[in-house]
Amino acid sequence: MLQDIETPIERLVTVLERDPSMVLRILRLVNSSFFGLKNRVSSLRHAITLLGYGTVQSAVVTISVIDALTLKNAFKGFDITTFWSHAIGVAVMCRHLADRTRLALAEEAFTAGLVHDIGKVVLINSFPDRFSAILERIQTDRITFFAAEQALDSWPHTRIGSHLAKRWMLPEMLEKSIQGHHHAVHRADTPPVAGLVRVADILVNLMEGRVGYQLDTDTLPPAIKAPMVALLKDSAAWFPALRSEIDHATQFFKQG
Ligand SMILES: [Fe+2]
Ligand SMILES: [Fe+2]
Repeated sequence: MLQDIETPIERLVTVLERDPSMVLRILRLVNSSFFGLKNRVSSLRHAITLLGYGTVQSAVVTISVIDALTLKNAFKGFDITTFWSHAIGVAVMCRHLADRTRLALAEEAFTAGLVHDIGKVVLINSFPDRFSAILERIQTDRITFFAAEQALDSWPHTRIGSHLAKRWMLPEMLEKSIQGHHHAVHRADTPPVAGLVRVADILVNLMEGRVGYQLDTDTLPPAIKAPMVALLKDSAAWFPALRSEIDHATQFFKQG
């Protein structure tokens, strides 16, 4: 319903209100620094009018994904706060890249960034031994998560995540961008947003000081290469503000 701009707001409110805890949490989320609004929002209708369907969809997907993917296992060197900080960092970065390049809708890009690594949570919950082995490999070889998965000949989190997205019947754009967010070469049916997620993921990983990441713009899909190179050229002008926006947005999750 949120994907269809023709959906009347009354219908949306009626459906969402069947789940009071969802309503409360949407309001809590939209009032948090996550969305950076100046005035308080106290009704669902107001939230939808103010934020638009795209943002409310982001909020609903965010809340549902968090609910569904609570970590069952604790790992040394990996905690859920770090995981969500990364996800939000990539979401905010992605929204910015989409906004500036006009290669995708800003809110779609935000949601795509937010869920890009959901496959990792499946790994932690269902294949903890495999996950431990990947973490170990990252340490010993000083490589990225994706490279470690490949070195171990393991099913990558991109594939696991896109499988999950398909089963949950999430929009195809999300499924495809989860699937393609580490691939340099994109298939014809890969949406531009996947390329944005890839760039945002590398930039945020570099920001977080992780080893093995580097951005080689020559490997970007042709459609996004030129606008991306132009945008990165003046990154000194926008990066500091974006960085503080990311820090601000992650506060919501650090508060629990
Ligand atoms: Fe990833
Ligand atoms: Fe990532």
